[in-house]
Amino acid sequence: MASYLQIADDEKGHDLDLFCVPRHYESDLDKVIIPHGLIMDRTERLARDIIQDMGGHHIVALCVLKGGYKFFADLLDYIKVLNHNSDKSVPLTVDFIRVKSYCNDKSTNSVRVIGGDELSNLAGKDIVETGRTMQTLLSLLSECNPKMVKVVSLLVKRTPRSSGYRPDYIGFEVPDAFLVGYALDYNEYFRDLSVSDDRCW
Ligand code: IMP
Ligand code: MG
Repeated sequence: MASYLQIADDEKGHDLDLFCVPRHYESDLDKVIIPHGLIMDRTERLARDIIQDMGGHHIVALCVLKGGYKFFADLLDYIKVLNHNSDKSVPLTVDFIRVKSYCNDKSTNSVRVIGGDELSNLAGKDIVETGRTMQTLLSLLSECNPKMVKVVSLLVKRTPRSSGYRPDYIGFEVPDAFLVGYALDYNEYFRDLSVSDDRCW
């Protein structure tokens, strides 16, 4: 089973005043749950695990937009550093797919997929809550008979709404709260925030 960094349910997070948070978001946010540096350090380790597991296989890295774009870019940067500096390297191409399943802060039953013209060996995603979005995407990808599909998700939410689906690589397991920042949005807001914040209601 994938190992991950667990953020406890009673995690108090960090005071917003300790970080540079855009003024236009200050009153909407509660606390910083995962500082940007921690996201980067964990992502660096995921890159190492992925390269080690992939052997010499060619990777088509498929970014699940929009929420996955920051994680995808940073993960690929770390994979590139490993490719440049180690004896073992993995040929890499990229593709992008857009998926929409959310309305306000609720997962909906319909999952819309736009774009993506190549088969994927590796999918990079922002967050898995119920797992429904990823399961829908995986069944679509399987129609293309890829050799292998591995899912990397920065966050997995601990929630009773989970379908039980778990990605192959997980950055953090997080409490059942609505998180924004680092490209995760609430109705398109908060993507322009570096840290992963807990929204307050
Ligand atoms: P699932 O299909 O329930 O796993 O939902 C996954 C999708 O819902 C993600 O790709 C996000 O777009 C969205 N999502 C779920 N939880 C959050 C959250 O806490 N913040 C922002 N988006 C979320
Ligand atoms: Mg969203």
